[in-house]
Amino acid sequence: MNDLDLLVQSAETDFSAAATPADLENAKARFLGKTGRVTELLKGMAALSVEEKKTRGAEINGVKQRIEAALTARRQALADAELQAQLKAEALDVTLPGRARGQGGLHPVSRSLERIEQIFGSMGFDVADGPEIEEDWYNFTALNTPEDHPARSMHDTFYVEGGKLLRTHTSPMQVRYAMQHVKKYAGAKSMPEIRVIAPGRTYRVDSDATHSPMFHQCEGLWIGENVSFKDLRSVFTDFLRQFFEADDLVIRFRPSFFPFTEPSAEVDIAFQSGPLKGRWLEVAGSGQVHPNVVRNFGLDPERYIGFAFGMGPDRLTMLRYGVNDLRQFFDGDLRFLSQFR
Ligand code: PHE
Repeated sequence: MNDLDLLVQSAETDFSAAATPADLENAKARFLGKTGRVTELLKGMAALSVEEKKTRGAEINGVKQRIEAALTARRQALADAELQAQLKAEALDVTLPGRARGQGGLHPVSRSLERIEQIFGSMGFDVADGPEIEEDWYNFTALNTPEDHPARSMHDTFYVEGGKLLRTHTSPMQVRYAMQHVKKYAGAKSMPEIRVIAPGRTYRVDSDATHSPMFHQCEGLWIGENVSFKDLRSVFTDFLRQFFEADDLVIRFRPSFFPFTEPSAEVDIAFQSGPLKGRWLEVAGSGQVHPNVVRNFGLDPERYIGFAFGMGPDRLTMLRYGVNDLRQFFDGDLRFLSQFR
């Protein structure tokens, strides 16, 4: 083996020893770089005759080509190996079980609110929404509850700056909705009946197993020229039977007092079967809208009459699902909430 073959062999050895592309580039420089061994050979030709230069030049070029071929082969081999390694590292095991995503769900009270809206919607009631930070006038005064009225103390609440308060019930929505309705039909020949429910959050200074400082109410209002307590009874019975999916559910009106209704009644229900069978359970306040309130709506109480009710969706949810501590609804504990998914 002559010196040139040895040179090729040593390049091949170096190249195959290179484990990375960077190693390989260093090895290449040792042979083909500016001061590399092949370049040195070419420089060494300066002293040769023209004849010798021809043969020696051809030989060195041959060596250069063989070294370049070895280099290319090694580059390719390294690239292939890298690709293989990458493919292996990124291998997907399609037989692995998937990672389950936690499944969310509606809050049980939200479910009840949706049910309430859907059922009353099917009976021709509009659904209205209003401010939780309410003006005293809508929350109390317009509802026949003047400043010194004792009923206000039952509604101890949170007052905010500017004389506003967190609404203690959804009843202010009776006034807001009715006034808007009256305005809308001000010039018209006749006014369609007012039929609306207004679900939402309400607030009182109250906290125990059956009271939370924030709770939900759903107001209902039906005003027309010929609406009676009988209508309230049938609408409410219909609603509750659908809500609880209990066709034999019965309701009773128990005399009560609210400043904004006269007469007033609590609505109690009783199931004929199931775990709550036979017990009277209070679910709503109701009554015929007081003439003073009808007047505040902007209507003539001699002509317009109707009823209102306010029920507690939280309580309805507790009864429907057999929950006995209201606070669980608002603790945000997933162990409790995930049972309703
Ligand atoms: N707003 C009353 C309450 O919070 C309930 C109610 C509403 C009573 C409408 C009569 C009519 O207790």
